[in-house]
Amino acid sequence: MFDHLIHLHPGYFETNQPTEIQSRITTDTTLLQTVIGSSVSIALRNVLLFFGGVVLLFITNAKLSLLVLMSIPLVVAPVIIFGRRVRKLSRSSQDTLAEVGSYAGESLRYVKIVQAFNHEPADVSEFAQRVENAFAVAVRRIRQRAWLVALVMLVVLAAIATMLWVGGQDVIGGATSPGELAAFIFYAFMVAGSVGAISEVYSDLQRAAGATERLVELLQAPCALPEPAQPMHIGVPDEITVVVDQLSFTYPSRPDTRVLDGVSLRIDPGEMVALVGPSGAGKSTLFDLLQRFYDPQAGSIKVNDLDLPTVRLADLRNLIGFVPQDPVLFAGTLRDNLIYGKLDASDDAISHALDLAHATEFVAALPDGLNTVLGESGVGLSGGQKQRLAIGRALISDPRLLLLDEATSALDARSESYIRESINDLKGQCSILVIAHRLSTVRQADRIIVLDGGRVVGQGSHNELMSSNVLYRRFAEIQFAGELIPATGTDR
Ligand SMILES: Nc1ncnc2c1ncn2[C@@H]1O[C@H](COP(=O)(O)OP(=O)(O)OP(=O)(O)O)[C@@H](O)[C@H]1O
Ligand SMILES: [Mg+2]
Repeated sequence: MFDHLIHLHPGYFETNQPTEIQSRITTDTTLLQTVIGSSVSIALRNVLLFFGGVVLLFITNAKLSLLVLMSIPLVVAPVIIFGRRVRKLSRSSQDTLAEVGSYAGESLRYVKIVQAFNHEPADVSEFAQRVENAFAVAVRRIRQRAWLVALVMLVVLAAIATMLWVGGQDVIGGATSPGELAAFIFYAFMVAGSVGAISEVYSDLQRAAGATERLVELLQAPCALPEPAQPMHIGVPDEITVVVDQLSFTYPSRPDTRVLDGVSLRIDPGEMVALVGPSGAGKSTLFDLLQRFYDPQAGSIKVNDLDLPTVRLADLRNLIGFVPQDPVLFAGTLRDNLIYGKLDASDDAISHALDLAHATEFVAALPDGLNTVLGESGVGLSGGQKQRLAIGRALISDPRLLLLDEATSALDARSESYIRESINDLKGQCSILVIAHRLSTVRQADRIIVLDGGRVVGQGSHNELMSSNVLYRRFAEIQFAGELIPATGTDR
């Protein structure tokens, strides 16, 4: 299941809550575990008892046995009717339980935000509401099950009473011996007991079926990014050229908004291109498409003349180093996080990547160095340190194209200059496409592409754009306000 989910296209987790899926995996599989561990063995044992009992009944007294067996259709009817209801309710019962789990998970993960906004009471009542929902559904499910067991027991005991009466008449009339009747009653109770037990575990099995349904649904969710049947070989070329042609894209969850609209651009080998534009222009989205997290609705992206969908995803991503806007790290040691994209990285490669990312110094200053353990989501490092570690992680596999989504949050002047130096060291070694929020980064680039409202509205160097592109000038004046004035002070 996990193997399937981890390979799905990222868009899947926008329409299906990851925390909910996570708790489904645990609650549903726990249910399966209980049912298979106990209910199935009870069912098996009682099925055997039932058949053995029925055989003995017939051997003892065929006429009375037929009487008992006639009640079986009366037993099967409630089992089917209520079984179906239990199954449906069981599914919503597991759904509501998963909601409880996902709510708790999110609140606890971001507990600082919860507490900073004094949101605890609201969280508590929301949580209580969800628990209450789950409880109500569970009560309904158990009620259906109680009806099922009650009806089955009633029918079975009524059959035994009838059988006792008929059998008693036979004994009085001398047709059967009292011993034979006693033996018959013993077997009849055995059969009745097993039918009762089966009907009880049957509703458990229905619950398991409800849980399985949902697991199977997850398991069968198709991946929207199919791997090519005959992948083109891209290998690890020394240099790559990226050509984006008339790219248009809308997010599947918001099909009416064009985030990218006819974007065309080109990145030559070893070139450093800065991508600038207002918030929401589609810059990070372009990065997503370059890594093929989504397929565009129109247009194409070619790497060394190969269309992205014709190359294996792993081969494509192998060429790309990615530094996300918000540097996500994982629980584990610094080393684990650093070698994330290249598990067999040598010590030399590790220290080289740390040097390039200007992270050597702060890592050495930590008491445990590279073995420092980080909490979930990389708790335990400052924003600037995370950013530099994320750069190191991107560089360790020696990418041919570096995608750097500059953090919008203000890094202090020193971290910023570290990152600037990193980029300087990398220039020429690989192609770099950087989403720049700072003039200092923009200035380093060979070329600047201005993106606005999902369209490319200008290209050129900073000075060219300042004089030729009204939008860029206005944007730069706002975005780089603090940096621009001293830099262009003499021009004015
Ligand atoms: N997963 C998503 N589903 C739907 N819409 C999205 C999704 N991610 C982003 N968007 C929308 O797409 C547009 C472009 O977002 P994008 O993240 O590419 O902006 P950006 O240029 O990187 O902005 P910023 O500089 O603030 O990071 C925004 O209007 C945003 O609301
Ligand atoms: Mg962004």
